[in-house]
Amino acid sequence: MHSRLFSEITIQGVTLSNRLTMAPLYLGYAGEGGTVSPMLLDHYRVMAQSGVAMVVVENATVDHPGGSGSNRTLRADTDENLDGLRTLAQTIQNEGARACLQINHAGRFAHAAPEPLAPSAVETFRRMPKALDESTIQHIIGCYAQAAVRAKAAGFDMVELHGGTGYLLAQFLSPHTNRRTDRYGGSLDNRQRFALEVLGQVKAAVSQLPVGYRFLADEWLPDGLQLEESRRFAKTLADAGIAYISVMGGTYESFSRPEIVEKSKQTGYMLDLAAAIREQVDVPVIAAGRLATGAIAEQAIAQGKTDLIGLARVLWADPQWPQKVRDGREDEIIHCDPSCGEACMQMVMKGRPAFCVRWPAEKMKAWKEKFV
Ligand SMILES: Cc1cc2nc3c(=O)[nH]c(=O)nc-3n(C[C@H](O)[C@H](O)[C@H](O)COP(=O)(O)O)c2cc1C
Repeated sequence: MHSRLFSEITIQGVTLSNRLTMAPLYLGYAGEGGTVSPMLLDHYRVMAQSGVAMVVVENATVDHPGGSGSNRTLRADTDENLDGLRTLAQTIQNEGARACLQINHAGRFAHAAPEPLAPSAVETFRRMPKALDESTIQHIIGCYAQAAVRAKAAGFDMVELHGGTGYLLAQFLSPHTNRRTDRYGGSLDNRQRFALEVLGQVKAAVSQLPVGYRFLADEWLPDGLQLEESRRFAKTLADAGIAYISVMGGTYESFSRPEIVEKSKQTGYMLDLAAAIREQVDVPVIAAGRLATGAIAEQAIAQGKTDLIGLARVLWADPQWPQKVRDGREDEIIHCDPSCGEACMQMVMKGRPAFCVRWPAEKMKAWKEKFV
């Protein structure tokens, strides 16, 4: 059953036993200060036990507090967290999954920063970020490289640059947030320069370690980055040696638009974006976004829309998803339910560790007794 879904793939020398990956999902489980907490380890152990071939760990900051989404954002900016990251990678690998660490600078969405930084001073939910100067840009590029070196030292099998959700890499690409007139702004060549310099320095710093990219294919904003340009950028990334491209759409500014709220409730709502990017590149593509059943996931691969499947809330709501799909017990899957109003997102926005409202009562009770 679902022979494509459960077939191997090798990405720059690293073999994944099937096409299922956990897509990065920040749930507020790290300790205050971004440490690897027991709650975080417990969570990733369960995710890795699920049977996915690779777990991509949620965004970890490359620069604290300036690049951190919150005070519970995992830290990859300091050797003090190296032991914790090592335990995290091992916890995932002990369950038979590959471990990948997503690294990020949140830019204008760095809520831990007293004064957020961005390519340009464009108001962001009533805060005005400071436009980056050249030397700070160079400093931040170096921070990405150092964070990637830590991921490698901690034993991760891959590292992923977070170019999605409207964080710093995306802010440079976007004509909406990048209004610069220097060599980092204006034409697409200039707006993609920051991402390419980050990739170049990261790759040089980690040599053989595969470097993937969480990729914003469409900002879903009238004046934002759109497919026409992102497809060209994808090709450039592939030419520059990216290991895989993990496609998503939307940013914090578009997620709340009524038509996007509706779109995001639909099964496979980002699959067409993945397909549009896959046409451009010869590196593996990961698709995510309510890929709720084995049949949908298998068909997406069969139709050439994607090479791999990214499961975020889908897997978190039911960590037995891969097993149930493999065994043909799809009717037993506990589905992430869009009618909950993105309860998990609401919880993490309020700074609380999230639970899934779809978890069975017993699991919820055990989780609360252990952690809350
Ligand atoms: C609460 C929450 C946290 C997320 N955190 C991250 C993250 O840290 N990095 C990232 O690239 N995407 C993040 N995402 C996006 C997911 O990886 C994924 O693309 C999206 O949720 C759609 O897949 P799904 O329907 O399987 O959840 C997050 C999504 C949610 C709802």
